Amino acid sequence: MPARPLSGARGAPPGAPGKSPRFPEASPGAASASSGASGNPRDSPRISLALQGYGRTAKLLHWLIVLLVLIQFVIAILMPDIGPDTVPGTLIDLHFSFGVLIFVVMAGRFVHRLLHPVPLDLPDSPGWERRVASATHRTFYFILLVGPFLGWASASAHKLPVEVFGFFTLPGIAAPRAPWALTAGDIHALMMWILLALIALHVGAALYHYLFRHDDVLRRMLPRGDS
Ligand code: HEM
Ligand code: HEM
Repeated sequence: MPARPLSGARGAPPGAPGKSPRFPEASPGAASASSGASGNPRDSPRISLALQGYGRTAKLLHWLIVLLVLIQFVIAILMPDIGPDTVPGTLIDLHFSFGVLIFVVMAGRFVHRLLHPVPLDLPDSPGWERRVASATHRTFYFILLVGPFLGWASASAHKLPVEVFGFFTLPGIAAPRAPWALTAGDIHALMMWILLALIALHVGAALYHYLFRHDDVLRRMLPRGDS
């Protein structure tokens, strides 16, 4: 992101979300906390990393997840309802397989994200907008990392094998008809519809920034955009 060296760190109110060192979205607080001996935040290796924006891998993983989640929702909508008498079928197998793949890619993305802190780049936005953006991103990680386990529990409770693209089969994690696992299935489905609503919000926000605010928010996540 060549022309905007400190953007993203600008304008964040003290105590704004995203300062947590465990899931860092760099902020002025973080910058001053880790300034080098010269007192210039740019001398800090942590901040110079954070100010680079989204790198190639982060962008690749973002758009890969978008593609996989899109495919997964199409499959989920087309697959038969899962109930006591459901027998395994192609769409159900595909749902489980893509679900496991999404979990694995998302776990990789999460680790990559922890190692490469990226500031939210909403310099001219009010605090509430930064908070909503940050909470939405965290919720994406939460749903896509925890949700698959609830689906897996439900599959086990319905005695459906979780075969991953025909390569291997995961063991069951719940007894047949286990009440907690059936409830987990309901929560899984609910969580995923909430995810879909949040994706609509997220896409709407990205387009709003691009079309009306004319800022760099969308561009820096695009393959050839600033980073
Ligand atoms: C992370 C990606 C996933 C997404 C986006 C997703 C999405 C969904 C959606 C939207 C439904 C509701 C379908 C409907 O109401 O017609 C659903 C149901 C279900 N999914 Fe997933 N799923 C994912 C991962 C998984 C995984 C990894 C498994 C199993 C290993 C799984 C197993 C199930 C089961 C068993 C149901 C039926 C739940 C019930 O009604 O008890 N899902 N999924
Ligand atoms: C399955 C759908 C999607 C998911 C799960 C998703 C998830 C995420 C997550 C977790 C982040 C935070 C990145 C990080 O700090 O690790 C993010 C950032 C971003 N996403 Fe998405 N995204 C989705 C779809 C889209 C789409 C379709 C667009 C564009 C229209 C988009 C545009 C952006 C932009 C511009 C950012 C950067 C925001 C910033 O930090 O300034 N996303 N997305």
